[in-house]
Amino acid sequence: MRIQRVRLENFRNIADLDINLGCGMNVLFGDNAQGKTNFLESVYFCATGRSHRTGRDRDLLKIGANAARAKVFVDDEGFDDNIGVEIDKMGKKMWVNGLLIKRLGELFGHLLCVIFSPEDLSLVKAGPGLRRRFMDMELCQLYPAYYHNLRMYYKIMKQRNNLLRDITSKPALIDTLEVWDEQLATYGMAIIAARAAFIERLSRIANQNQGEITGGLESLEIIYKNNVDSELFLEKLTKARNFDITRKSTSVGIHKDDMEFRINGRDGRIFASQGQQRTAALSVKLAQITLIEEERGKMPVLLLDDLLSELDASRQKFLMERTRGLQSIITLTGAESAFDNYLNQEGAKIFRVEKGEIMCYN
Ligand SMILES: Nc1ncnc2c1ncn2[C@@H]1O[C@H](COP(=O)(O)OP(=O)(O)OP(=O)(O)O)[C@@H](O)[C@H]1O
Ligand SMILES: [Mg+2]
Repeated sequence: MRIQRVRLENFRNIADLDINLGCGMNVLFGDNAQGKTNFLESVYFCATGRSHRTGRDRDLLKIGANAARAKVFVDDEGFDDNIGVEIDKMGKKMWVNGLLIKRLGELFGHLLCVIFSPEDLSLVKAGPGLRRRFMDMELCQLYPAYYHNLRMYYKIMKQRNNLLRDITSKPALIDTLEVWDEQLATYGMAIIAARAAFIERLSRIANQNQGEITGGLESLEIIYKNNVDSELFLEKLTKARNFDITRKSTSVGIHKDDMEFRINGRDGRIFASQGQQRTAALSVKLAQITLIEEERGKMPVLLLDDLLSELDASRQKFLMERTRGLQSIITLTGAESAFDNYLNQEGAKIFRVEKGEIMCYN
């Protein structure tokens, strides 16, 4: 899968842009605060319908503008696809090949992306929310049905929570909880099954990567820490009723899941060094690429934001060698020690980013 062209209008600090990308490595360089990450963000948004760094779509509107637009033209193994988005103060609309989509589920898969930014380096030790988001974004790209289940789960949980709030003043409502509990358990169980299968495969591939990067010195095991076992979901939910009514929120379910990274058999959250965390994050990201290739039969586009300054030379080399056949978009500030290496990469297309303008440099 390759992105051929990107058109942007009033997207963050980029007022007007129309560029063609190269089919291999694309290097965007420029000083800080010029628009490099904004560009990557626009591509990621077209792939997933959300930003990798803000939950508020409005933030993407160029200050003072009424609407932001992005359009990405993709060559999907010989088939032309395009994805468009328009964001204004009311919300967003998205199109796939000119057709307005009703749900994000229709978007996933048209542009497969793996993004790797410095925040991902803290995947091992960050809060569980980041790890759940990681699982969900990956599973949504792999299986559109997962997105549907997830959306339904959160919708039902919201309704259940509203009901929990109302029960205090209208105790008779307690009888209606059963219906919500059953539905929540049904969607929750489907999500648990998908997460468990995904993490098992991810763990196997990431462990191989970790071994290769560290010359066999480190093992990596990723363990799914589900908040509740599938077969006990409904039972635990029912048991938690009184507690949930007092707290006015749902205490059992997949929204509390987590994953644990065990490095050489020990919980990485407690024991991993900075370097081990970075290696683990790299192993996981590369495993994500492999999984997409295996599952979808297509190569994703790799987005590397400011990452090279965070990885040492041997890890950079490993990353570059393993992703050679992919199209990549890489941002650099010029302060990296390896900066010249990237500018001189054969076949790389180089862009200079300055004040929201992106100009081809070679
Ligand atoms: N909605 C917006 N409207 C206008 N400008 C914005 C908006 N959001 C962010 N910016 C500005 O866009 C500029 C570029 O941001 P971006 O994050 O792309 O920088 P960058 O080139 O990646 O820099 P760095 O190397 O520091 O990561 C910043 O000055 C930022 O303040
Ligand atoms: Mg940046």
